[in-house]
Amino acid sequence: MCGIVGYIGGRSAWPIIVKGLQRLEYRGYDSAGIAVIDDGALRVNKCRGKVADLLNLVRSQPIGGTIGIGHTRWATHGEPNDVNAHPHVSMNGHFVVVHNGIIENYREIKARLAEKGYTFKSQTDTEVLANLIECLYIEQGLTAEQAIKAALRKVIGAYGLGIMCVDESGLLFGARKGSPLAVGVGEGEFFLASDATPIAEHTDKIIYLDDEQVVTLSRDGYYVSNLADDHLDPVISHIDFAVDNIDKGGYEHYMLKEIHEQPNSVADTMRGRVNPQTRTISLGGIADVLPRLVKARRIIIVACGTSYHAGLVGEYLFEQFARVNVEVEYASEFRYRDPIITPDDVIIAVSQSGETADTLAAIRMAKQKGALVLGICNVVGSSIARDTDAGIYTHAGPEIGVASTKAFTAQVTVLTMMAFLLGRKRGALSQERYEQLVESLLRVPDMIGRVLQDEAHIRDVSKAYQLAQNAIYLGRGYLYPVALEGALKLKEISYIHAEGYPAAEMKHGPIALIDNCMPVFVLAAHDMYYDKIVNNIQEVKARKGQVIAIVTRGDSEISKMADYVIEIPECDEALLPLVAVVPLQLISYDVAVMRGCNVDQPRNLAKSVTVE
Ligand code: F6R
Repeated sequence: MCGIVGYIGGRSAWPIIVKGLQRLEYRGYDSAGIAVIDDGALRVNKCRGKVADLLNLVRSQPIGGTIGIGHTRWATHGEPNDVNAHPHVSMNGHFVVVHNGIIENYREIKARLAEKGYTFKSQTDTEVLANLIECLYIEQGLTAEQAIKAALRKVIGAYGLGIMCVDESGLLFGARKGSPLAVGVGEGEFFLASDATPIAEHTDKIIYLDDEQVVTLSRDGYYVSNLADDHLDPVISHIDFAVDNIDKGGYEHYMLKEIHEQPNSVADTMRGRVNPQTRTISLGGIADVLPRLVKARRIIIVACGTSYHAGLVGEYLFEQFARVNVEVEYASEFRYRDPIITPDDVIIAVSQSGETADTLAAIRMAKQKGALVLGICNVVGSSIARDTDAGIYTHAGPEIGVASTKAFTAQVTVLTMMAFLLGRKRGALSQERYEQLVESLLRVPDMIGRVLQDEAHIRDVSKAYQLAQNAIYLGRGYLYPVALEGALKLKEISYIHAEGYPAAEMKHGPIALIDNCMPVFVLAAHDMYYDKIVNNIQEVKARKGQVIAIVTRGDSEISKMADYVIEIPECDEALLPLVAVVPLQLISYDVAVMRGCNVDQPRNLAKSVTVE
């Protein structure tokens, strides 16, 4: 949720850190701050607001120093203000800390520190941690690294940390548990960051720290150890995306860029997995566990938000093609319900970031109960990717816009490939039908491209709804999860209240809301529900609702009834979610821009929800 950046090397630290924070701002954006040690003196600048506000602050009072840490915050403890912004300095000024996560037992620790005379300026758990480290450092005469480890052995909760000690100003410390932290390995310089995006422009060598690991960085090298003080030999991985992927590439917003990337990102998700010559699918990431997946008694998909909607599409796919029992669960409910899980179950965690706290906790619980746990993640090396038995990366490239778009289509693409493959392996799909489906899947990037060509018309339609206060989204079958996703997209970036429903549910309550002010987005492509959805449209029109229908190209029936139609190419029913979601993404984007909303950083949201 928050973003951490750290630097130690030979260059001026603050420009590197501020640029890194701009890259990470999608993770949290209610306040930002930076601390640099310059000639043995600690300089801290922090403020409520965006990284741009921090930049103004730093520019007006230039700072030197070649070691520093920075933070962009999404408030958990204490409102967003200058005092609660990170970094936090310990009471006697020895330590400075930036933190992502929550220290759950901070109240007890704070009370004990208060008894020793510690006072606190902020309402944050992070300042408590800074003081705990300092207290142990002074009382026990420890080195900075020893004091950090001693403190971390006492805390309960989650942390990604960047820490400096003014007395040991040639060292930069990082630690993680539950919240991600990576180390960039350069030539005579090292970086700390919550993810690879701020590191990519400096080096492609990266170490993803594991839980309860501490890294000590100097200008000469890195030293990774655990809380028990054992030295560890970490794996150096390579960052697998180009810096261009994390720029806006000429688009006004990341979200628009990411919507437009979908023909390529979906093709990337299939690359090396769907073979156009043999019309077969092979999924290397789950090859070893495939026999167990094939025999699964039940598949349980766990996820949150947009990823949950992708999971719902997965349910339709697996049931139709693999004839296997599927449940889709909100990770936050599943983890606490003490669900009945047996070793014959397969859990699939779906997550763009791979760091979502509830999803991570759900898979850990399922693993303990003996289930096979698979992951579908976008961020390489993320916690969920590492904590699962096997998995498939979506390879959609970095998604920076807070509203998920290309990650959704990539997740659905993976679930589609899995369902087709599993269907064939379980004998539920004939070879002929399997090959037909593979061929259709290969055509999806092109179909998405054709929807995007209709952007100007979609913008015209959006204009009519920029002042709406509410909206309803309806779909059936494969298009029901797409209705949910359309509603989520609209509400999160334009702040219009929107609800998605299975179209048949409308008459069980929501129909009461329909009047001439209510836009109703109806997913009405040619599929087995077509006649039924036509009836649903008539029910809306009879109550003077405004209907915006997403229809199959050439549909003449619905255009006579609907206020607006947006056409999508004809495609296999099972692949409709991948194509039909795109106009809904564009409508949300257009409406949000017309309403003057901050599309890439909607209020109150953060990209990666690392707290429950
Ligand atoms: C919505 C959105 C969120 C995420 C959710 C899960 O646009 O982005 O609803 O889908 O927070 O995040 P991941 O997929 O990272 O687990």
